[in-house]
Amino acid sequence: MNITTRMLAAAIAFTGLSATAATTVDIDLGKKGAPVAPTMYGLFFEDINYAADGGLYAEKIKNRSFEFPQPFTGWTVAGNVELLDNGPFERNPHFVRLKPAGHPHKHTALENEGYFGVSFEAGKQYRFSVWARALESPAKLRIELVDPAADGETHAIAQQEITVMPGEWQKYTALLTPGATVEKGRLRVFLCRPESEVDLEHISLMPVDTWKGRENGLRNDLAQALYDTHPGVFRFPGGCIVEGTDLATRYQWKNTVGPVENRPLNENRWHYTFAHRFYPDYYQSGGLGFFEFFQLCEDMGAAPLPVVSVGLACQYQNNADSCHVPVDDLQPYIDDALDLIQFANGDTTTVWGKVRSDMGHPAPFGLKYIGIGNEQWGEEFTVRLQPFIKAIRKAYPDIRIVGSSGPAPDGKDFDYLWGEMTRLGADLVDEHFYRPESWFIASADRYDSYSRKGPKVFAGEYACHGAGKKRNHFNAALLEAAFMTGLERNADIVEMATYAPLFAHVEGWQWRPDMIWYDNLRSVKTASYHVQKLYSDNKGTHTATLTVDGKPATGGDTGLYASAVRDDSDGSYIVKAVNITGEPIDLNLKVKGLKKGKMPDTVTITTLHAGDDEENTLDNPRLIEPQTRTMTVDAAADWNTVLPAKTFAVYRFSKSK
Ligand code: AHR
Repeated sequence: MNITTRMLAAAIAFTGLSATAATTVDIDLGKKGAPVAPTMYGLFFEDINYAADGGLYAEKIKNRSFEFPQPFTGWTVAGNVELLDNGPFERNPHFVRLKPAGHPHKHTALENEGYFGVSFEAGKQYRFSVWARALESPAKLRIELVDPAADGETHAIAQQEITVMPGEWQKYTALLTPGATVEKGRLRVFLCRPESEVDLEHISLMPVDTWKGRENGLRNDLAQALYDTHPGVFRFPGGCIVEGTDLATRYQWKNTVGPVENRPLNENRWHYTFAHRFYPDYYQSGGLGFFEFFQLCEDMGAAPLPVVSVGLACQYQNNADSCHVPVDDLQPYIDDALDLIQFANGDTTTVWGKVRSDMGHPAPFGLKYIGIGNEQWGEEFTVRLQPFIKAIRKAYPDIRIVGSSGPAPDGKDFDYLWGEMTRLGADLVDEHFYRPESWFIASADRYDSYSRKGPKVFAGEYACHGAGKKRNHFNAALLEAAFMTGLERNADIVEMATYAPLFAHVEGWQWRPDMIWYDNLRSVKTASYHVQKLYSDNKGTHTATLTVDGKPATGGDTGLYASAVRDDSDGSYIVKAVNITGEPIDLNLKVKGLKKGKMPDTVTITTLHAGDDEENTLDNPRLIEPQTRTMTVDAAADWNTVLPAKTFAVYRFSKSK
């Protein structure tokens, strides 16, 4: 659709022009519906697609502690560099010794390639830091940010010198301000003349301008994009990475807290999970760890939902019982869950509360939820989950426990797991559905018939995977919006929902579609991002009944999906409507239960619309964006509008003050 047609469609939506017989949509505000949980629309973070190192975590140096299995991965070494392994950080013992190169015309130097390059922006400050000690006499280091492709006099875009003193290991820092923006730069560290010997460990380069200005910080544009969705819940640290390819590589939160220099490296299973997209340099530094995740939740006002291993290595890749922890040996895993709750909520006299406090956060993080296991299935799972539930209930009766319904959204295994989650008393069941267009078109009534007596629903991972495309094209986002009317209508049973995956580096992805894409300098919000944000920004406080011909609007023959909520915080009510057809739909909203004196006189209409195959890209990031306009409402109880073809619309009715 060209821009003129799109503007015309938007204009029709705004003016309420109508040509054909209208579809009557009945909305009843008389009876207060179920509360919409504050956690309803949230985010799910997994370190997949270089989401942590190389993504949200602002560190620019790959393999900063020389702990990769091949210790110089990411580094180019020149001159005389030795690797040693009795450094100052016991869980990251390796370090390098720079020695004279042996000839006045040779150099001893290190160069780091970063994640798809070391990027920097003109005029911004970058903090270089290193733990170092000189051996006998002071040693001088020259630190350079370089653009290897620069064809001027020098590659160096910024440089600084540091003098390292003999004696104990110390942290040295230098600020660099590049004069040019470079996407695929490098960091170089030279041993200068007169040469001395010097030991270096944990070589780091961070922008000063991180989100909230934190030294061990997050990339600004990406963290801000998360914050802007006002998420109600934040699930972390991931799905499959919680399990690991084997138990040794499962995510262990205790390895990700305390000083960053001493957080051990973990293999990231996504480096080889898909051999057709193989990333042998994909590891987890732990720099973005559980403290940082909890802090991010606090900053965003999102309820933290950490997930821990239930003692099962990824069940897809481990059939034999011997790959998993025997039920009788689960205690250390159960302790990890209990200690995590203490880390988040315990006072500063407790062992793990003190760790949190020593990291700069004496106040508790207010953890209310914990996930036990990711996408687990079968009796293998339920027999292990049971002792976790027992122990957590005993120690922390108020913590809400999230169980699993496996990888599929229906079928024998799914039914078995729902039965078991109910029997075991899980508070929520995590459902996952990466499904094609047809599934999303047909599933807006999914939760209408769910039992109201068992656990609540957490739609923990979902996305519309368009047939043969698997891209973030608009039609997929539109169908997600249509499906989500069913989440909203069933807010009495659906307590939280999170799209997945969240992040992807354009040069390092393993799984798509994803919600936010980026390269080293730019990021782009997909149409799916905008759908999530529109729901979150307009979640209201209580559901309101919305019907067409006495039934919920779930697509059917009309292609119209709709739901309504009221927002008791400001007296407004909100209608969400999705037209998945190629023709406009005339709507007549008939509203019951409006209170005299509180009649809305204003409607804010926000529409999201594009061609089926269109998508936002790094080069064209704002092709698809919500368009908003406010207009006066004369007759709120009986109001007409046209919902254009292929459009998600949010109508927010309010009374002007
Ligand atoms: O989101 C990608 C993966 O999909 C998750 O790690 C896993 O839980 C699911 O299979």
